[in-house]
Amino acid sequence: MAKIFCTKEIPQSGIRLLEETGHHVTINKVSDLSKQQLIKEAKNCQALLTMLTDDVDADFLEQCNHLKIISQFAVGYNNIDIAHAKAHGITVTNTPDVLTEATAELAFSLLLCVARKVIPAHKNANIGKWTGWEPLGFLGKSLHNSTVGIIGAGRIGCEFARMCRGAFKSDILYYSRSRKPAFEQRYDATQSQLQELVSQSDVISIHCPLNSATAKLFNESLFSHVKEGAIIINTARGEIVDQEALINAIKSQKLFGAGLDVTSPEPLPSTHELYNFENVVITPHIGSATLKAREEMSLLACTNIANVLQGKAPLTPVTV
Ligand code: DGY
Repeated sequence: MAKIFCTKEIPQSGIRLLEETGHHVTINKVSDLSKQQLIKEAKNCQALLTMLTDDVDADFLEQCNHLKIISQFAVGYNNIDIAHAKAHGITVTNTPDVLTEATAELAFSLLLCVARKVIPAHKNANIGKWTGWEPLGFLGKSLHNSTVGIIGAGRIGCEFARMCRGAFKSDILYYSRSRKPAFEQRYDATQSQLQELVSQSDVISIHCPLNSATAKLFNESLFSHVKEGAIIINTARGEIVDQEALINAIKSQKLFGAGLDVTSPEPLPSTHELYNFENVVITPHIGSATLKAREEMSLLACTNIANVLQGKAPLTPVTV
């Protein structure tokens, strides 16, 4: 039976499944591990259950090329050098599907919070500044009949589009490498070039993976095309947005606001300038943080490990 190292505590259901199969699971219950500590632990194991915060780079893979599987507890896997893992014959898996609704719901929550100034209004009431009903107080942005631009029309982007179409009767634009005929038909969505999308959208929501093509996709030049008064939501990866360019767009009042579940770096230091803006809502990368999603992520990530250790195909391999 195999030894498995899990880099953070996760819901018990998956761990139980592995232990019932006879495997021995060690769980890191302290803080984030350094790369050297992780290498030390991985050297004793056949399988690794990783988080998006673990740096599984070429050097790590070189030193741990005995691993049979790296099972990522997330849908995104930009922290893993997939090409090197493949070269060493290590299977990499992730947890798609089970966190789609949870992450789209968080994007939707951020959108409503920004559009209706929920956080500053709450703070105001909370510090005793609610002195009466104000006809001009906390005027928000109506989302009814808005145009919503989705960057990355994968599972989460499509689910967010569905929510906006259902709730606000939004027109949907999407930017994606490939055409999505079923998505177009279902939500009357239109594929669009990036500049065109940002110049027409009242809401721009980022759902693409982080890779060399999408790093700083949202740069100063793209911001110059963004529609006046737009809201930007990012629940994908912080590095897709050039944060300096975002700050400039906020300062110039071009944007109505931004909702960010992801930043660069993470955690974003509490002294960071982005916290100074009332129209920027920041959450600490909690897109998939529902009880249901995390439970299902645990089961899926551990089933992938159990399968590979038994010589069976994993349920959700990373295939790029
Ligand atoms: C993921 O799984 O990649 C998401 O970032 C979780 O929120």
